[in-house]
Amino acid sequence: MTVVTKPKVVLGVSGGIAAYKACELLRRLTESGHDVRVVPTDSALHFVGAATWSALSGNPVSTEVWESVHEVPHVRIGQGADLVVVAPATADMLAKAAHGLADDLLTNTLLTARCPVVFAPAMHTEMWEHPATQENVATLRRRGAVVIEPAVGRLTGVDTGKGRLPDPAEIFEVCRRVLNRHSLARGVTTPDLAGRHVVVSAGGTREPLDPVRYLGNRSSGKQGYALAKAAAARGARVTLVEANTGIADPAGVDVVRVGTAVQLREAVLKAAADADAVVMAAAVADFRPAVYAPGKIKKKDDGGAPTIELVRNPDILAELSADRALPGQVVVGFAAETDDVLANGRAKLARKGCDLLVVNEVGERKTFGSEENEAVVLASDGAETPVPYGPKEALAETVWDLVLPRLRPST
Ligand SMILES: Cc1cc2nc3c(=O)[nH]c(=O)nc-3n(C[C@H](O)[C@H](O)[C@H](O)COP(=O)(O)O)c2cc1C
Repeated sequence: MTVVTKPKVVLGVSGGIAAYKACELLRRLTESGHDVRVVPTDSALHFVGAATWSALSGNPVSTEVWESVHEVPHVRIGQGADLVVVAPATADMLAKAAHGLADDLLTNTLLTARCPVVFAPAMHTEMWEHPATQENVATLRRRGAVVIEPAVGRLTGVDTGKGRLPDPAEIFEVCRRVLNRHSLARGVTTPDLAGRHVVVSAGGTREPLDPVRYLGNRSSGKQGYALAKAAAARGARVTLVEANTGIADPAGVDVVRVGTAVQLREAVLKAAADADAVVMAAAVADFRPAVYAPGKIKKKDDGGAPTIELVRNPDILAELSADRALPGQVVVGFAAETDDVLANGRAKLARKGCDLLVVNEVGERKTFGSEENEAVVLASDGAETPVPYGPKEALAETVWDLVLPRLRPST
């Protein structure tokens, strides 16, 4: 008889107002077959009591190292875990973890865990932006922890800003991906993009004609979002430059919103300054109206239509490839072709000078807006990797698998 053991997850809860949201994360983890041990801090118990954690997890709950000493819980809980997720992670908890303090059960567990660790910080914007917190986050990321970027929105009281705990469903998704990758590569405890900064662009630019009209395209942004989420789950710090997608911010990702090709260029070049890889999945308009009409363009009295003059937009992919912000920076492009897909793709790869080009066929009902994609990834060294029809997440993983060996050595 085969005994299937459930993955062991430690859910650390520290003392933030968002502690109640960890109940939802706990439910999602237990209902999807994980054995969850909740380790709250003393402060966390001011917000949600031990009875709730114990009843929801089906496991004992304690905050300090002096209970059940014969079981040596300060060592065993961390050693036996397949994943530790701290949600919410207070500024205090990030500081303790970064500096290796061990004054309660959770901080001891963080020191003894050899599995992947995910932090979901939540705090007021001022606390999050404080250089002390930012340095602690950078330290944790450098060591391989996944620190999810907080969301922007309503905070405790009347304040709004960055620092809100991401949606528990998003945190769960990050945990699931981290666990999947970890169990695929047992023995590798650091996610493979840990310590890397990657930039992804997503969506489609809109080039305004007048205050009510624009030239746009059908890109939904789903492939770019899949790339950003996959990179975050693999431990990267991710900047997502998104144009007109309307998709909610993914957890663990810094989102920069733009509208036009010129704005997208500026945001991508800025983020690329210290990036290990840039993936241009956005559909950037090749042309824009030469003149922006400050008032709505009217119908002509003689029944004719206006002539719109277009000018070329900057070629961001070619520019990124020619002027790499860092030596060895990996640049990936996407080619959406309607016919002669591979031949056009090869020509585009040579013309743009990028390292990888994801070539896919697009059409009114193909690729744009759909959940699936089919592509061939062409590499500058001549390699071709076909990716069969499947979810955009699968293509995203393949792209990162191909980026990984091309990255410059980590510093
Ligand atoms: C009502 C209230 C809400 C708080 N919310 C947060 C929060 O969201 N994030 C945070 O970092 N600290 C927050 N704090 C402060 C922490 O509770 C405090 O720093 C505590 O020492 C954290 O302990 P711990 O990290 O051991 O859980 C809050 C405090 C109070 C009284």
